[in-house]
Amino acid sequence: MTTIDVRDPVTVSAYEQSVADYWNSERNPVNLRLGEVDGFYHHHYGIGEPDWSVLEGPEETRDRRVAAELHRLECLQADLLAAHLGDVGPDDRLLDCGSGRGGGSFVANLKFGCRVDGVSISETQVEFANDQAAQRGVSDRVRFHLKNMLETGFPTGAYRSAWNNESSMYVDLSLLFAEISRLLRRGGRYVTVTGCYNDAYGLPSRAVSEINAHYICDIHPRSAYFREMAANRLVPVTVIDLTEATIPYWEMRARSSLVTGIEETFLTAYRSGSFQYLLIAADRV
Ligand SMILES: C[S@@+](CC[C@H](N)C(=O)[O-])C[C@H]1O[C@@H](n2cnc3c(N)ncnc32)[C@H](O)[C@@H]1O
Repeated sequence: MTTIDVRDPVTVSAYEQSVADYWNSERNPVNLRLGEVDGFYHHHYGIGEPDWSVLEGPEETRDRRVAAELHRLECLQADLLAAHLGDVGPDDRLLDCGSGRGGGSFVANLKFGCRVDGVSISETQVEFANDQAAQRGVSDRVRFHLKNMLETGFPTGAYRSAWNNESSMYVDLSLLFAEISRLLRRGGRYVTVTGCYNDAYGLPSRAVSEINAHYICDIHPRSAYFREMAANRLVPVTVIDLTEATIPYWEMRARSSLVTGIEETFLTAYRSGSFQYLLIAADRV
């Protein structure tokens, strides 16, 4: 396994190095088996009402049916995010911040025909996603870069839209939104889908703290998103609370053979009201 040296400018802190190490060695079946369903590798959660009948029927094909159903729910989430990226044309350039194995970038390219740059601090993810781009014949339009989303080095104002799909909890939001604001042209669109803790509940619950420890991340309060967007010329245009819509995904995942051990913690966090799953779309003004 290749790891990034801590002195590599992509990972400027020891914390970032630990996140890179996590994603460099990550081989969770829930991520790989679902991606194998149709070649879209998503490392985010799902939304929508599952078809519970997949849990019944022949035992020998149950795993395959459940994997396909969980994947369908993750694809619904990716499509919802893409639907908020604005009026994107084939000449536009989009940025996928924390691009994982590339699923979301390919969804956007397929939908709009646009160019997409994905950035991740995981070398193995970047290699995997660039291989996917080659297999799809879109390497000239969709490129993945070993870069830190806080300091991409990409040109100022070059992007029509940018997004974070479950990757903003790995970074300081004031630094992230300053970089997003720099990269987006005026009138551009930013979208995040993220878990956040509910300020109205108080401070992070035990379940939220367990999620932080499990993924080595730092789940931000809901308020921080709006505060830091306002401070960086990003004006929210749509906010969707997806908490209710994601709970069935976790219920089905908890009953599948693809459990990672964090499922009940997510369900506790959501049901207690301490944790929320949000889509926030904002205009760069
Ligand atoms: C939960 S995964 C989400 C992947 C992808 N957005 C998706 O939906 O499939 C989190 C991603 O954030 C990336 N990441 C974390 N910190 C980062 C940073 N500072 N710069 C770039 N990528 C980062 C990880 O490498 C990983 O690809």
